[in-house]
Amino acid sequence: MVKRGPGPQSQKIVREEGEWLAPGIQRLATLAGVAMSAGQGCVLEDADGREYLDFMAGVGVASLGHSHPRWTSAISSQASRLAVGSFASETRLALLKLLASILPEPLRRIQLYSGGSEAVEAALRLAKAHTGKFEIVAFWGGFHGKTGGVLPLVGDPFKRGWGPLAPGTHLVPYADCYRCPLKLRHPGCGLACVDVARQQIEAATLGSLAAILVEPIQGTAGNVVPPPDWLPAIEEMARELDALLIVDEMITGFGRTGAMFAFEHTDTLPDILTIGKGFGGGYPVTGVLTTETLADSDPWSRPSSSSSSVGGNPLASAAALATVETLLEEDLVGNAQQVGECMLERLRRMQERFHFIGDVRGRGLLLGMDMVTDRDTKEPLPTAIMQRIYQGCVERGLLLMAYGPRVRINPPLIITEEEAGAGLDILESVFADLAPTL
Ligand SMILES: Cc1ncc(COP(=O)(O)O)c(C=O)c1O
Repeated sequence: MVKRGPGPQSQKIVREEGEWLAPGIQRLATLAGVAMSAGQGCVLEDADGREYLDFMAGVGVASLGHSHPRWTSAISSQASRLAVGSFASETRLALLKLLASILPEPLRRIQLYSGGSEAVEAALRLAKAHTGKFEIVAFWGGFHGKTGGVLPLVGDPFKRGWGPLAPGTHLVPYADCYRCPLKLRHPGCGLACVDVARQQIEAATLGSLAAILVEPIQGTAGNVVPPPDWLPAIEEMARELDALLIVDEMITGFGRTGAMFAFEHTDTLPDILTIGKGFGGGYPVTGVLTTETLADSDPWSRPSSSSSSVGGNPLASAAALATVETLLEEDLVGNAQQVGECMLERLRRMQERFHFIGDVRGRGLLLGMDMVTDRDTKEPLPTAIMQRIYQGCVERGLLLMAYGPRVRINPPLIITEEEAGAGLDILESVFADLAPTL
């Protein structure tokens, strides 16, 4: 086996960067310790020419894989013509039309941004503008970004140390069935977590609920898939409370879950949809999609009120247009569904073999595992062991988000069954070596 991981060139670049780069970049980069120099399809190459299968895709960003010829040529040809500005352009027009054609009819008003947090914040401002109310409910385990307006809506201790946070925000339980906070089982539970959410909203809010903000599958929490009747129940609750439903599809959108959008797996229709990550295939472009009526809400609709400096500029539009066209033409949504099912089946077989895999779940190419010391207590596998697993994968040529006990697998949507199988062979070999020590 060829040993991968930090070679001399990687070590030199990482060491020198370390003199200038502020701490706090993604853990996956720090722990891998490699410098990347190129990418092609599902394979990344480091500065020493060592290759890695990519099961991270820049955390769900590289939907077309790396250096897709159509995407690179769209960007370079647009860059040589016009990159900047919010004036109308043929490219943005084509993108807007295409987006409208793949979304349910009412969601036909689109505003474009460059960051995910920025788009979610714009969605919250829109909800407040439309309803005239100011409170927002989000979920335990949820993640919507790190900026001031969304930080209080992060449903884990990540936000500690940055208080005080914006008031008017509330968190309720997500349908994380493997770790059900009510210790119940679906479907016998009758979605008791939604009843608790209702009670929490009743007890904690000030009667001014503008919106419920939800990930249809929680990405950062560990690719946690709620049962199919949960999102419709949340939508029903939003309607009862006269609040808007904002579905954050930053990770789940554009085919990742085997449908163009994850809300389409259930019978729900968001009032506002936020998109990003895989939408631009690696170019930073995000968006808010909503109805005609909502988009008209004052002050969101005033000139310069919902826009941003680089959102949807011609270069961003060209990247997103090429990405979405490619997704459609190469049927990458279907591929995500098909390869995702094979991967899920293989992970389930691994679960039978290794007692430390407590849970396996997923939809399309958004797959997750809970790693435990004991299946009864569900005690998470210690971080030190997870980091050994992560580094073991890197050394054998596989990049996947396995540095914490909730493993996330989200390869590019172009991945073939053979590549998926090869990556899972590596993961299984790392588990097999670890098994006798656990
Ligand atoms: C569901 C969701 N929303 C919003 C964000 C924030 O995106 P960004 O990091 O581009 O600000 C993320 C980032 O991971 C996310 O997963």
